[in-house]
Amino acid sequence: MSHDDIGTLIEKTEAWILPELENIFNEKESEDVTVKAAMYSLLAGGKRLRPLMMRLTSDMLGLGEETVHDVRYFAATLEMLHTYSLIHDDLPALDNDELRRGKPTCHMVYGEGIAVLAGDLLLNKAMERLFSICEKRPGYISAASSMAVNAGINGMLGGQSIDISSEDKEISMELLTELQEKKTGAFIEAAVVTPYYLSKETGRAASADDETAESLRRLASHIGLAFQIRDDILDVTSSSEVLGKSTGKDERDAKATFVTLLGIEGAEKRLKEETDGIRLILAGLRANGYDTSDYETLTDFLVNRDR
Ligand code: IPE
Ligand code: IPE
Ligand code: MG
Ligand code: MG
Ligand code: MG
Repeated sequence: MSHDDIGTLIEKTEAWILPELENIFNEKESEDVTVKAAMYSLLAGGKRLRPLMMRLTSDMLGLGEETVHDVRYFAATLEMLHTYSLIHDDLPALDNDELRRGKPTCHMVYGEGIAVLAGDLLLNKAMERLFSICEKRPGYISAASSMAVNAGINGMLGGQSIDISSEDKEISMELLTELQEKKTGAFIEAAVVTPYYLSKETGRAASADDETAESLRRLASHIGLAFQIRDDILDVTSSSEVLGKSTGKDERDAKATFVTLLGIEGAEKRLKEETDGIRLILAGLRANGYDTSDYETLTDFLVNRDR
């Protein structure tokens, strides 16, 4: 197994996922303007952290080549769902942002109507892909279904719903945690746990008692929190040149975030608690014989990242 630095891990993940992303739509479909808009955002240069986590779990569990191939298919599908969520998140009706992944947002280039459709397209195509792989491998049904649930009202979409309806309001830490667990945590859980499901060809229910599955779910929960707390901090402390998206927008929109609830210092303290949580779970996995070094590299990045 590799022991790369975070830059190399990100580069290798981009090289791994790119051929899959480039081939989602056929030549004829690619002439359509909505497809062009979706591909513009999909290939705009995100960090690919969710596909990266899928690679890390696959490596850690020592999955065979054939399963890793299918993990890549699921990773591209998750990256499509994530990109759809960002295209819609940036729309004037939601966060009204003009910069994403260092480039003008989808609606700035293609207009609002096409940007709405481009998000819908990525969501729809992701669902088609989940059905399609289950036709070939019915054992993947629970993994696919779980990914669809993570995108829905009990996942990302539900978090966005709380986020938008909490603007200009003071909310409790309990509701903020629920907001975050859904908005960001759900896709990160899909990333960290899906390779395990594919390796077993079982799903959430079947593996509920399994110690490794439970460790991965707890790991994902802490990573999700750490990731979003750092996102909230960077909105205040970073610059758009470095971050690739506009900053200061949470305050502008009176968003409920870890920084607005706890202040910067409080948010940093909470971030440390979450990364301590990650390290504890990794120590447990290590004790069970898993090589967790790449996950430790990712953990350092979660604390210190500036993009
Ligand atoms: C941004 O996610 C949205 C949040 C969940 C905070 P990323 O920071 O992973 O975005 P990309 O994919 O690198 O652009
Ligand atoms: C959005 O959260 C997370 C999504 C589900 C898209 P944010 O609104 O905080 O993400 P950024 O800061 O715009 O990337
Ligand atoms: Mg938002
Ligand atoms: Mg936003
Ligand atoms: Mg944010």
